[in-house]
Amino acid sequence: MALYSEKVMDHFLNPRNVGVIEDADGIGEVGNAKCGDIMKIYLKIDNGIVEDVKFETFGCGSAIASSSMATELIKGKPLDEVKELTNKAVTEALDGLPAHKLHCSVLAEEAIQNALEDYFSKQEK
Ligand code: FES
Repeated sequence: MALYSEKVMDHFLNPRNVGVIEDADGIGEVGNAKCGDIMKIYLKIDNGIVEDVKFETFGCGSAIASSSMATELIKGKPLDEVKELTNKAVTEALDGLPAHKLHCSVLAEEAIQNALEDYFSKQEK
């Protein structure tokens, strides 16, 4: 059996939503204590919906594939659904990741949640 699924390879080789949103409404940045890699997520939110999302990462191939898939999963979705996104949902959508690479998908989940928190804290101000 191949180590990585076709979906992981596809999202690693052709990542979706890579880049920066200059006027982002929420930005999340997290580091992975295990490997030292970094993930940054930018959210553009309109009327409670994720209008646009971009990511930058200094992560491995699994982190790139996970964030690419995670951004696809939340694009156009209401914030209530985005809040519920887990790394499990991301890895399932990728048809799985090797066990020792699961922590890479956690990076994508945490960066998105972090960006949401940033958005909500800006709303309060
Ligand atoms: Fe660091 Fe995958 S090994 S994000």
